[in-house]
Amino acid sequence: IDRYAVFGNPIGHSKSPFIHTLFARQTNQSLTYTAECAPVGGFIEAAKAFFADGGKGCNVTLPFKEDAYQFASRLTERAQLAGAVNTLKKLDDGEIIGDNTDGAGLVQDLLQHQVVLEGARILIIGAGGAARGVIKPLLDQKPTSLTITNRTFSKAEELAELFSVYGPVTAKEMNIVAEEFDIIINSTSASLSGELPAISSSVFAANSTSYDMMYGKGDTTFNQWAKQHGAAHAYDGLGMLVGQAAESFMLWRGLRPGAKQILRELRKNLE
Ligand code: ATR
Repeated sequence: IDRYAVFGNPIGHSKSPFIHTLFARQTNQSLTYTAECAPVGGFIEAAKAFFADGGKGCNVTLPFKEDAYQFASRLTERAQLAGAVNTLKKLDDGEIIGDNTDGAGLVQDLLQHQVVLEGARILIIGAGGAARGVIKPLLDQKPTSLTITNRTFSKAEELAELFSVYGPVTAKEMNIVAEEFDIIINSTSASLSGELPAISSSVFAANSTSYDMMYGKGDTTFNQWAKQHGAAHAYDGLGMLVGQAAESFMLWRGLRPGAKQILRELRKNLE
């Protein structure tokens, strides 16, 4: 039976085993998927052992996405551009390919919600790893503009510079962003401490969509704020989580599982 896993630290609360087990059932695939806690600094050793022992593929989450990037013997273009790997797959010739499905997961989820990306004015708040992973997949959808803003402006500038060959990306300082956007994506970890990024609420255009990469029971702090200030729609990152998993499953098994039913189940169990 083909073996898959997710590596992280901590990993106890990972929803990936649940998601992939349901995907496998849905698509009639025979496989196992477990959660593996690797010691910090010990990912490469753990991954080597996993693949030597017959593992077919794995997901990689905090704090190992850069280690996985180093570990892969070959990288997809989107993983290269993300600078991080969340999916590894062992090919028949033994080579291990590194991919990053986070951005595709976000795009899939937005499209599932009928959000129009083509021609949209997109604002990404935050310039860390989470932001970097989604920029190229968003640009591939042909938005009119993609603006990156960040508390530390230089990081937004660096990302804009890095991706400018792929589309209309610019960086703006957080305290001067005053124009309106169609899609506002919060990629910051501010919510973890119950904070809001210090941005003007004038960014929400009529009929705009707020997307918070975080999720939880009920609206996230960011999405509550977005709705209060005129966002017409607000979605959280649970759909992105399922979307990235579906993309990984697709890479491993060549089949695209459906997201809707699993999303409902996960939502029900959130606390
Ligand atoms: P991740 O991989 O989740 O993106 P990260 O690389 O540590 O994590 O990046 C965290 C992001 O959240 C950064 O953009 C950070 O802003 P800085 O670059 O200025 O540090 C942002 N962030 C974290 N806490 C924040 C807060 N309270 N207000 C605004 N931005 C915040």
